[in-house]
Amino acid sequence: MQKKITAFLFLLLILAACKPAQKNTAAPAINAYNYSGVKKVVAENGAVVSAHPLASKVGVEILKMGGNAVDAAIATQLALAVVYPNAGNLGGGGFMVARLSNGETVALDYREKAPGQAHRDMYVETDGKANTDKSQLGHLSSGVPGTVSGLFASHKYGKLAFEKLIQPAIELAEKGFTISASEARSLNYLQNDLKKYNTVTPVFVKNTPWKQGDTLLQTDLANTLKRMQQKGAAGFYEGETARLIVEEMKRGNGIISLEDLKNYQAKFRTPHSFLYKGYKIVSMPMPSSGGVLIHQMMKMIEERNIAAMGFHSLQAVQLMTEVERRAFADRGEYMGDADHYKVPVDMLTNEVYLQERMKNYDPAKATPSVMVQPGTVLRTESEETTHLSVIDKEGNAVAVTTTLNNSYGSRTVVGGAGFFMNDEMDDFSIKPGVPNMYGAIGGEANAIKPGKRMLSSMTPTLVLKDDKPYIVVGTPGGTTIPTQIFQTLVNILEFNMSAEEAVYKPKFHHQWLPDEIMIEKGFPLAVKEALQKMGYSFSKERSGIGRTEIIMVLPNGKFEAVADNRGDDAAEGW
Ligand code: DON
Repeated sequence: MQKKITAFLFLLLILAACKPAQKNTAAPAINAYNYSGVKKVVAENGAVVSAHPLASKVGVEILKMGGNAVDAAIATQLALAVVYPNAGNLGGGGFMVARLSNGETVALDYREKAPGQAHRDMYVETDGKANTDKSQLGHLSSGVPGTVSGLFASHKYGKLAFEKLIQPAIELAEKGFTISASEARSLNYLQNDLKKYNTVTPVFVKNTPWKQGDTLLQTDLANTLKRMQQKGAAGFYEGETARLIVEEMKRGNGIISLEDLKNYQAKFRTPHSFLYKGYKIVSMPMPSSGGVLIHQMMKMIEERNIAAMGFHSLQAVQLMTEVERRAFADRGEYMGDADHYKVPVDMLTNEVYLQERMKNYDPAKATPSVMVQPGTVLRTESEETTHLSVIDKEGNAVAVTTTLNNSYGSRTVVGGAGFFMNDEMDDFSIKPGVPNMYGAIGGEANAIKPGKRMLSSMTPTLVLKDDKPYIVVGTPGGTTIPTQIFQTLVNILEFNMSAEEAVYKPKFHHQWLPDEIMIEKGFPLAVKEALQKMGYSFSKERSGIGRTEIIMVLPNGKFEAVADNRGDDAAEGW
């Protein structure tokens, strides 16, 4: 009998050892074939807002399982890499700005880097012309991806095992999910590029048009995610996935090498923080221009009583346009990866310097951009995207903006690995004075150099009130990102708007060059006409600028999470 029991126990032990799948990686139950999303929730325990209802649901399920806001942000990003291939990604990069429950604020940089074989003039042809096709599409447009390194680096602040955080994404990729009307539209729009820039036909190619309700299955992507589940970051940057990336590069004349992948490291940086009328604004430092730009813009308006001018009044719009112009003039000249170029951040945000920048400001007329050159800075010893906002009841607040650059990045899917590569190289200044796809120009500060990170506009931002989370905000939109964050913050802090109003109201944008104001549908016509009389030019009206995801902490301590109404974005809470 004794022997039999011992043998039985032994058998049980063996069975347990043979079943690693029992590691409790069960994904939360979410119906990926029948789901909907809401634009606004008010919740007590935590909230997630992202570009896709399924990704927001995954994030909240992770909170319910005992994860904190960092865990939820990781799981939401991984889910977005599956359900929102336009911008959610493994093959891109991003930034995280967080305030942790212990009061610490952190910024994590997982921006892509120029590959080791990149060089300054790699997109300049023999006739001296810059070739933006090559910097924007196909294999050569990709920087070394940073997202996976960032996800694992941020996990040191999480509470749940990474295996659990990635499980929902694996299931969404493996079992599929139904796509929305706008997803079907954008996949159909993409078909020609997919055929042109791929060496292996990806799952996104379809002979008959995609339609709402179709199921998207991504087996290769599921396997890539499983390698990350089993091997951590090395499951992406080394071994099978790295080999697939490098083989893809070789087939399409790309230059990312095994060494580039192995060497990629996300970096913790000191957030760019400043005070505005008693609020502490915490944002992203270089290689994002975002934190410095919102700092400059907010300080240039701080003493001018913009609240009294009124929202969308001629005076307020004109003042904000002029400060946007001045901040962006500095961006092109001085900003880039501070690991490679001395960015004079202190001078650019010095209050006397900013007053000086406003000396030629005239409230009665436009200051043409030719008259607003980059400021004179004393050089001392001392440089389609998606956003998600998450908060939990422990006091953690996380803002993440992540990107492939434009929609679906380089349009190249890594053969056998199932994910899009970025086209982030275009965010470098590929030739001095040549605009990138957002019209931004640059020079030395943002020139291409191996291992350097390209300048970004992504601005994940937190506002702290009495040192506690008050606002978590961010948006995609290229160079319009910092101006939208600026306007959303001014809408709330100066014009007393609710989160919903602050996000949904039409935005405008000026970036120094081109010297024109971009406006969104719904911007008041009378203000536009009055500005034209003052000497302002306007570009073609845009149907939507960005997709802002915001969480605000209400006076009663509840979380109000609002998803932008410019897309399928959705808020979830519990
Ligand atoms: O990092 C940047 O500034 C750009 N690559 C962001 C691109 C973007 O926001 C595209 N989305 N609309």
